Amino acid sequence: MRKPLVAGNWKMNGSRESAQSLVAGIKEGLASAVAAEVAICPPFVYLSEVKSLLEGSEVALGAQNVSHRGNGAFTGEISTSMLLDVGCKYVILGHSERRALYGETDVLVAEKLIAINAAGLKPILCVGELLEERESGKTEAVVARQLDVLLNSVEGLAALQNTVIAYEPVWAIGTGMTATPQQAQDVHAFIRQRVAAKDAALAEKMRILYGGSVKGSNAAELFAKADIDGGLIGGASLQVEEFLTICQAAAN
Ligand code: PGA
Repeated sequence: MRKPLVAGNWKMNGSRESAQSLVAGIKEGLASAVAAEVAICPPFVYLSEVKSLLEGSEVALGAQNVSHRGNGAFTGEISTSMLLDVGCKYVILGHSERRALYGETDVLVAEKLIAINAAGLKPILCVGELLEERESGKTEAVVARQLDVLLNSVEGLAALQNTVIAYEPVWAIGTGMTATPQQAQDVHAFIRQRVAAKDAALAEKMRILYGGSVKGSNAAELFAKADIDGGLIGGASLQVEEFLTICQAAAN
């Protein structure tokens, strides 16, 4: 049995004040321990404070990005050892916003994933197709390309042992346009098969999250699908009630 995971990606949103009230609300709402794992991924500058605020709760801390390099002269970057130092467990990488807006390539994403794993952190690797790629029937080819760079390397395959995959169709991110549960399930099953072709045991234990306009109102039907093991939540993770409803749906 794969334990579901709900991870909140706050993106570049919030303030110290909003972080405090969000964490307080989530802690209170999750006080009766749910059967899902919950993580929140605030902006870097709030990680330390959120870690302190989370004390006494089971909610894990994650970062939204990291450098693939070790500490050194890399102005503006954050290393894996810094993330460990402030108490992170997870790191999101390969998010479509980083691929599209910051030029992150499949190769860079692979380097980051290997560095994250080597540091003892858990990668949450995002994959997913653009609208035009879906419309031209290329969804599986795109997702395969994003995965194969890791599946076809010894180091990559080793790092995938500790990785959570997040399938996020780019056209569904922040648009209010969610993939139907069946559309999502089809791609999740494809991802699991692709991994199984290299390592059947890994495919069986690997958690594959869905991301893209998940809300309190659609989470339960998405999470009911056989290969959907939770969600990566953007907008709805900034609202306590919505986020708690999603966590509850994953636990049921
Ligand atoms: P969204 O974002 O839930 O706001 O669509 C999801 C994500 O980007 O991870």
